[in-house]
Amino acid sequence: MDPVPGDVLIPADRIAERVLALGEELRAAYDGREPVLVAVMKGCVLFLADLVRACPVPMDIEFVTARSYEGAEPGRLELTLPPELAEVVPGRPALVVDDIFDTGRTLAGVCQALEALGPTEVRSLVLLRKDRPLPPREPGGPPVRTPDYVGFEVPDHFVVGYGLDHNGRYRNLPYVAILSDPA
Ligand code: IMP
Ligand code: MG
Repeated sequence: MDPVPGDVLIPADRIAERVLALGEELRAAYDGREPVLVAVMKGCVLFLADLVRACPVPMDIEFVTARSYEGAEPGRLELTLPPELAEVVPGRPALVVDDIFDTGRTLAGVCQALEALGPTEVRSLVLLRKDRPLPPREPGGPPVRTPDYVGFEVPDHFVVGYGLDHNGRYRNLPYVAILSDPA
């Protein structure tokens, strides 16, 4: 049988409270600087929608697509950047927003692609960071980056909900739960 959402790790009210605090932190960091938020699809959609409403500063929002998982197994990273990024990023601070930092390969790849477009800086924010050792830099791969802002540190389990999926399912759960085998 397919695994299903099990224990709730982070309930909706704790997510909401933390997102408001992150929005306030970003407001203080980016007020008057017109950042370009670069959201990594699709996992960050719920988080992004709540975050930007908690951060009332002028900003652009752009989307990149990264796919690295088949089910719960990490695979090769595929990155798709829209052409508009090359028009808005040069000379501006970029902030990458992703759902979860696991091995860090997605963040490293997205940050490297953005650096090539000439921003004033590239920072990153993730809702969740898994408590696990950082893998070494892959030969010929992008430099390892750790997120500048983290919503919650979580144990090293596969989690779903609030944007995070397993094979496309469970993104619409309003909380984050641990994926587990049905009893
Ligand atoms: P990384 O490249 O290994 O850091 O993985 C980041 C991407 O893998 C995230 O943007 C997610 O889309 C996906 N991912 C990693 N861990 C999980 C998880 O526990 N649940 C759902 N998606 C995950
Ligand atoms: Mg993702």
